[in-house]
Amino acid sequence: MNVIEKIWAKARSGGKTIVLPEGDEPRTVAAAEIVAREGLAKPILLTPERMREKADAYAAALYELRKAKGWSYEDAAKRVADPMYYGMMMVQTGDADGLVSGAVHSTGDMLRPALQIVKTKPGVKLVSSAFIIGCPNKSLGEDGLLLYADCVVNPCPTAEELAHIAVSTAETARTLCGVAEPRVAMLSFSTLGSAEHELVAKVREATKIAHALAPEVLLDGELQLDAALVPEVAAIKAPGSPVAGRANVLVFPDLQSGNIGYKIGERLGGAGGFAVLQGLAKPCNDLSRGCSVADIVNTIAVTAVQATAL
Ligand SMILES: CC(C)(COP(=O)(O)OP(=O)(O)OC[C@H]1O[C@@H](n2cnc3c(N)ncnc32)[C@H](O)[C@@H]1OP(=O)(O)O)[C@@H](O)C(=O)NCCC(=O)NCCS
Repeated sequence: MNVIEKIWAKARSGGKTIVLPEGDEPRTVAAAEIVAREGLAKPILLTPERMREKADAYAAALYELRKAKGWSYEDAAKRVADPMYYGMMMVQTGDADGLVSGAVHSTGDMLRPALQIVKTKPGVKLVSSAFIIGCPNKSLGEDGLLLYADCVVNPCPTAEELAHIAVSTAETARTLCGVAEPRVAMLSFSTLGSAEHELVAKVREATKIAHALAPEVLLDGELQLDAALVPEVAAIKAPGSPVAGRANVLVFPDLQSGNIGYKIGERLGGAGGFAVLQGLAKPCNDLSRGCSVADIVNTIAVTAVQATAL
């Protein structure tokens, strides 16, 4: 079974309810039909009628959640008229187990209410993302499976934040993708001291912090991408590294490199996949606006699995 087949199998056993705020978007509607037919989850397509059902109750609950941040009741009521906020309140109150959106809305439109309302899991410092990537070259990663982070959320992580992103992604590899031994490469333009720069120093510091946070995780850095993935290059640039040449989790130093790197892999190398958010107290996931119906189906399935794991 590949990772998608495993995720579909797990989603089927969970019976989770996933709200889709973009309820009239044609790809989302088509995906909801497939999800329901395949029994992957119970999808809820948000419509203006549906949003009238609990508008007052959600406005009151949202006001309670955000009043300490200076929101008035009117601020909360106005936000609840937005499908993204309404959907997020469904998740927060337990009326849905998870949320998927982003076929039309930008990442920020979806992330901001998730961060304001659902917030992080207890003990987790920050929300980040992991791309679950299938490579045509099966000798890379875990039989062609790789996880990339963070290509979606944190524009400019500090060393400490980068360390938390690395640890969260190792956890996602294990729990969501069934990778028995996550091997995490902290990427840079330098390999183990081959270059000196403040950007390299940040990755080195992040590696140190990640080792302290999760000593059980196989993690090394700083590593260049070729040293991380290719055994012959690793033998020259990083001999003896427990990760180099066989990494299955790639942690990019910032959002620019992560987002560009993932798109280069996808467009030039045919290594596509989909993103999940990690660290939220309840699962909410974002789509790319260029997503296909299949991408939406898979993202709903993965959200249902994340909800099962909680
Ligand atoms: C995530 C993002 C939306 C936050 O933007 P913002 O609203 O301007 O940020 P703020 O600093 O006002 O934060 C809003 C809330 O989110 C929280 N937050 C921000 N980033 C967070 C993170 N990574 N993890 C957890 N919480 C976070 C803040 O603490 C704040 O909470 P509060 O209002 O309860 O105090 C912004 O960082 C962003 O747009 N990231 C890039 C997304 C993107 O465009 N990606 C494109 C690639 S596809």
